Amino acid sequence: MAPILEYRDLSKIFFKGNQQVHALDHVTAEVQEGELLAIVGPSGCGKSTLLNLSAGLMEPGTGDVLYRGRPLTGVNTQVSYVTQKDNLLPWRTVEDNVALPLQLGDRVRLSKDERRERVTRHIELVGLGGFEKHYPSELSGGMRKRAQLARSLVYEPEVLLMDEPFGALDAQLKLVLQAELLRTWEGTGRTLVFVTHDLTEAISIADRVIVMSSRPGRIQAIEHIDLPRPRDVFGIRFAPGFGDYFERLWSALREDIRHGQEV
Ligand SMILES: Nc1ncnc2c1ncn2[C@@H]1O[C@H](COP(=O)(O)OP(=O)(O)OP(=O)(O)O)[C@@H](O)[C@H]1O
Ligand SMILES: [Mg+2]
Repeated sequence: MAPILEYRDLSKIFFKGNQQVHALDHVTAEVQEGELLAIVGPSGCGKSTLLNLSAGLMEPGTGDVLYRGRPLTGVNTQVSYVTQKDNLLPWRTVEDNVALPLQLGDRVRLSKDERRERVTRHIELVGLGGFEKHYPSELSGGMRKRAQLARSLVYEPEVLLMDEPFGALDAQLKLVLQAELLRTWEGTGRTLVFVTHDLTEAISIADRVIVMSSRPGRIQAIEHIDLPRPRDVFGIRFAPGFGDYFERLWSALREDIRHGQEV
């Protein structure tokens, strides 16, 4: 399988006044087409920065981000991005928020009827049927996440980038949304890059988990998750092998914390 995204020796330093923050340090990795990849790492290690670079929203300091073998030179219109912050437009209803990517530029050429059908289908898919006319302020946190998910799926992107999409939700809703994500994404041949703090979530969803070190973010460990698909997020933590993956990933994170305390 060919890589769809490649990070080649990426480094990124942010400058603010005379202060420098070294966010990423010599990150080299590939995301294979059709892969479900999870990225975990301590707060501030550059995970969101890596997604911003993948979406072409910022430029690396040094190194390259390649998409299908070509260096990114601007916004990457082939990816959809569920950002860490909720960025639904407050003055638009659920259906108008979800329709937004289909109205921007000429990424998807659809008739009005096709557009409406796609919007309705994706709102149903994430379980928001009946809330089409609601505004974001009239939704719960979980429902806003669902609306964001529908909006990012609506134009059926090649790559979905998600930055801790379920982080702030209660445990039960988190599992329900993870199951929905797998239902819509597994077996489609499309690619997912998913940032999370939750190791169980990473193992449940991903084909491969990248562990990043604390800032400046480096690749600390990579683990292939060979659990069978389709996966049942409700029961997978009891599957044979799950505990071993958890143990290995946790020890990679812990190793980094220990190292960080020594220096
Ligand atoms: N636009 C920016 N300007 C200045 N500094 C930034 C900017 N974006 C990120 N940083 C800094 O770079 C570092 C990495 O930030 P980033 O948001 O990528 O971390 P993260 O791994 O996503 O953290 P978290 O898990 O808390 O979301 C942080 O120290 C942050 O303060
Ligand atoms: Mg972040």
